[in-house]
Amino acid sequence: MTQTHDEITEANIEELVHTFYAKVREDDLIGPIFNETIVGDWGPHLVTMVDFWSSVMLMSGAYKGNPQIKHRQLASLKAEYFPRWLALFEETADELFSPELAAAFVGKAQRISESLKANALQDNHSRKTIDMTPRTEMPAETSAEFIHHTPTDISDRVAYGFVKMLRFFADAFFAKRYGHRAIVLETVAAVPGMVGGMLQHLRALRRMQDDRGWIKTLLDEAENERMHLMTFIEIAKPTALERLVVLIVQAGFFNAFFLLYLLAPKTAHRVVGYFEEEAVRSYTSYLAEIDAGRHENVAAPQIAIDYWDMASDARLRDVVLAVREDEAEHRDVNHGFADTLAHEGKPLSPIKRTHQRAAIEC
Ligand code: HEM
Ligand SMILES: [Fe+2]
Ligand SMILES: [Fe+2]
Repeated sequence: MTQTHDEITEANIEELVHTFYAKVREDDLIGPIFNETIVGDWGPHLVTMVDFWSSVMLMSGAYKGNPQIKHRQLASLKAEYFPRWLALFEETADELFSPELAAAFVGKAQRISESLKANALQDNHSRKTIDMTPRTEMPAETSAEFIHHTPTDISDRVAYGFVKMLRFFADAFFAKRYGHRAIVLETVAAVPGMVGGMLQHLRALRRMQDDRGWIKTLLDEAENERMHLMTFIEIAKPTALERLVVLIVQAGFFNAFFLLYLLAPKTAHRVVGYFEEEAVRSYTSYLAEIDAGRHENVAAPQIAIDYWDMASDARLRDVVLAVREDEAEHRDVNHGFADTLAHEGKPLSPIKRTHQRAAIEC
């Protein structure tokens, strides 16, 4: 048995990549898609993958491709392939690296995998074509629901502190009126994607550069959040005071977020990542209220049934599960974008780059 590495070097990355893809090629589920795409010589793909991981982990800048586009072109890619890919990757990283470094690789892979999955598996207009386990059949409490990005620097801590402060006010204002809370907060949640998408679009125009698929991802996020609003408006009716709050908050938040994104896009994505962590928590509490019978499990509104392709007899509980799943996806995508921006042009030591995913203490 080889000794595990406690340092990330090019040679160690090469060993990881070669060992991992040897397993992938033999795998009954995901082996075929690789073997049908990479016909014959695996050499160039392995070189690309070593470059990729050395760019991700060592900031070597060796990788110049666009994985989003590559995976979008894989017609037979399915959502259920990702957990297998990650399981094999984790197994390999655990074999070859110390637990801390293995966790750093796996944390990165999970984030990238989330954003690849979110991007590669949707068509241009709707997310309904995502081929995945029906959302309503997802286990109520999967470990992925409680992912927390541990703040690693000042800007993370500012972002987290800001979100926690807003949470405090939201809790004070709404208490357990989850339907009302959802309506007001979804009007806010739908802003960052539109602002970020617009600013990334303008940046791509100014720099005449590829947007790495970010514009569409962000605009899709905005639309998805708006659909959450359209759904909850069928379930609760906002009070006059809440409508006023929406107006005032929009005026302030749109402008503040615009400025933040312009000046500190990494922090802006981190703020959204933390918002979404809180959203996941809130929808989990909403589920608990429904399960305890304190909130009537009414029939799902038709707009939700159409949007998430639900069974015609779906209930509110199914809707909240689907929405929570969306929020978890936005959380991972935004934290992933913040990570990407953090690493651009700023090499950090491998240890600092460790992304801890700890359970939220709540
Ligand atoms: C279900 C999971 C996945 C499948 C089936 C899959 C499949 C593939 C295939 C077939 C290629 C070769 C494409 C080509 O040469 O035309 C490829 C390339 C690549 N994959 Fe994946 N992939 C998966 C997940 C991931 C994940 C999670 C990551 C990153 C963490 C990743 C990173 C890459 C990269 C960087 C390339 C090289 C793209 C380029 O040529 O620039 N893949 N993948
Ligand atoms: Fe939402
Ligand atoms: Fe959200």
